[in-house]
Amino acid sequence: MAKTADATMQEKSPRWFGLAYLLIFIAGVGFFLLSFVALGVVPGWRLADAMAAHTKTEMPDYSASELRGRQLYTRLGCALCHSQQVRFLVSDARRWGAPTQAWETRYDFPQLWGTRRIGPDLAREAQVRSDDWQLAHLYNPRWVVADSVMPGFTWLFHGSPDRPATAASDLLAYLRTLGRAQQSSPKKNQDVLIAADMDGTMDMQNKNLSSAHFQNPNQPQLDRTAPDLTSTSATREQLLARGQTLFAQNCAGCHGAGGAGDGPAAASLLPKPTNLRQHRFSSQGLAQILWNGVAGSAMPAWRNLSIADLAGLSAYVQTLHAALASAHSTPTPTSVLAHGAVIYADHCSSCHGAQGLGDGVVGSTLLPRPANFKITQADSTRITQVLNDGVPGTSMPPWPGLSPSDKQAVSAFVRTLFNSATEQNP
Ligand code: HEC
Ligand code: HEC
Ligand code: HEC
Repeated sequence: MAKTADATMQEKSPRWFGLAYLLIFIAGVGFFLLSFVALGVVPGWRLADAMAAHTKTEMPDYSASELRGRQLYTRLGCALCHSQQVRFLVSDARRWGAPTQAWETRYDFPQLWGTRRIGPDLAREAQVRSDDWQLAHLYNPRWVVADSVMPGFTWLFHGSPDRPATAASDLLAYLRTLGRAQQSSPKKNQDVLIAADMDGTMDMQNKNLSSAHFQNPNQPQLDRTAPDLTSTSATREQLLARGQTLFAQNCAGCHGAGGAGDGPAAASLLPKPTNLRQHRFSSQGLAQILWNGVAGSAMPAWRNLSIADLAGLSAYVQTLHAALASAHSTPTPTSVLAHGAVIYADHCSSCHGAQGLGDGVVGSTLLPRPANFKITQADSTRITQVLNDGVPGTSMPPWPGLSPSDKQAVSAFVRTLFNSATEQNP
């Protein structure tokens, strides 16, 4: 009975059933090819298109020194604490800048994107810190960032940060490449924004993002924007106490505990950190300096601090000079001032600007920018020193051609440009 049933089954099964193995084989290979094309080839094309659209054709490859620096970076374990990839997240872009795109690392093999962030992401580092800052930091991170846990790499130097050995120079050269490609790309932040906007990930958290939000808050800026630091409810005592603590934590390494410009990092920095005891600042001016930093020097911007913190720092920095303020109260005769004005128009205004705003025709091409005499006033000792020696590390030259009385006159004139109306120092 059973045998007959089997036989009937076999007779009834369709002919193609015998080819089932072949069909399954073809379907299997077909699906494999399909997924290979859909998941491998097509995204590859799209990535290549996207890279072609964003890459500047002359994107430079690493130089020999940069390549040695990159090898050092790997060997010294920098990548164990630092990632090199700004993710497509608002929180990342706010801290470090535009998100990292694939084409930027096309010369990197292996990539150093990394996953651990004991220290900050370095994908945009080149635009953030000056060379002298980097070397001082590499030598002893605690000189410039008081509570840093990063080890110092002193053996890459001949005894001090301003005497880097080849290794430190190579490492610095490599750090300078981080973010270079993005910076020179014709399609910068704006496109990244649009791309991010399209996939919705970034826009979810903030409706009014612009590329201005895509910046490392420590990166010095050339604009003169300043937040309003006056709208704080804190008393003057509270402000000063807060400012003093913040100054010790953030500024003393460079400007010195007393603000005299003699912190441990100062020795190797050029230009030197300002001696805050020799300078007066308007409140508006300080807000602008802290908000934007000083481009072309090691002085960072401090946009990562809250408005209340900045107000505290501003109030505190203004007290550093107060003790000396009375020493310069003798009024200068008008004839001397008039003589000073002539010298100023002849020699100084092309850089410092007719009104002393640091925006003369030549001045607006220089880094650091010439001093803005409206917001900062050096005492006469400092001005005399500057006229004798210039300001090393900047374009401010010495003036051996001016007689002592000329110097005195122009110094007095320059000091009158200070706008004390905006100063709130008692
Ligand atoms: C043990 C972890 C660790 C190692 C290893 C390390 N760093 Fe750091 N790094 C940090 C931390 C934490 C910070 C943040 C505090 C500071 O600025 O010092 C930092 C900050 C930095 C910064 C400043 C970023 C900025 O703009 O604020 C740079 C540049 C840097 N490191 C480079 C390096 C290099 C180059 C190496 C390898 C030679 C290295 N780091 C090794 C932990 C580390
Ligand atoms: C890494 C070193 C460094 C740190 C940290 C630093 N500064 Fe500076 N700062 C400088 C240098 C260098 C200059 C001089 C710039 C120049 O001469 O162009 C400067 C200049 C200044 C000036 C004068 C700017 C001007 O235009 O005249 C002020 C005010 C100032 N810093 C305040 C601060 C305060 C407040 C802090 C802490 C929140 C701070 N700095 C932290 C290095 C530093
Ligand atoms: C080639 C351009 C240039 C010329 C010309 C020039 N300066 Fe300057 N000056 C600068 C720059 C740049 C700085 C900023 C230095 C800095 O950031 O520390 C500066 C800074 C200063 C300072 C501020 C120093 C301080 O510590 O705050 C004084 C004062 C000054 N100049 C006076 C003069 C006088 C007076 C003349 C004319 C006799 C003059 N400068 C001509 C470029 C110039």
